[in-house]
Amino acid sequence: MLYHLLLILLAIAIVIVYIVIAFIYTDKKKTTIPFLPIPDELLNPIHDELTLYAGATLYDLGCGNAKVLRYCLKQQPTIHAVGVELGHLPFFLGSLWNFLKPLKNLVLLKRNFFDVSIESADRVFIYLLPHVIKKLVPKFRKELKAGTIIVACNYECDGLEKLHISQHAVQDKKFILYVYKI
Ligand SMILES: C[S@@+](CC[C@H](N)C(=O)[O-])C[C@H]1O[C@@H](n2cnc3c(N)ncnc32)[C@H](O)[C@@H]1O
Repeated sequence: MLYHLLLILLAIAIVIVYIVIAFIYTDKKKTTIPFLPIPDELLNPIHDELTLYAGATLYDLGCGNAKVLRYCLKQQPTIHAVGVELGHLPFFLGSLWNFLKPLKNLVLLKRNFFDVSIESADRVFIYLLPHVIKKLVPKFRKELKAGTIIVACNYECDGLEKLHISQHAVQDKKFILYVYKI
């Protein structure tokens, strides 16, 4: 009896590992940017730099498991938070989290952010790599309204008006938040 139970558990574990590996493999082909959640220590500085206000619409482009949006919503429940994520695994984790602990005003879209209109954004957060940011800057210029604040972690948005930068140490790693205004 115990032997059969162990076999069943082993089979379930193998299937789960297989699915996770398949997710990681297909995500790598899709997005060219790995799913790397922001460290918890940076959530508060990001929230502060975003200068959110009641009713503001915040986008996280490449939101991963949506931890930045969840944190901001907990600090300011009246904002509208929109996460756009293409990767299967991070989107699944974000959706699971939202299923288990739903937050009003959080919308997660399983889309390529280049295909999503961001015209309604008042605030945008990104934690991406330079080759993608370079292509996003023209989209920011085209779609974002004047006054929109963008906070970019670690890599600059060349060509946008920079308000200021702040540096943060997390264990031995240095993180930089770049703040821009359209
Ligand atoms: C470094 S992670 C950051 C996750 C999250 N923003 C955070 O700070 O915790 C970058 C995420 O962007 C996603 N991504 C990259 N390119 C994308 C695209 N074109 N459309 C949607 N998501 C994308 C990746 O799948 C990955 O989960």
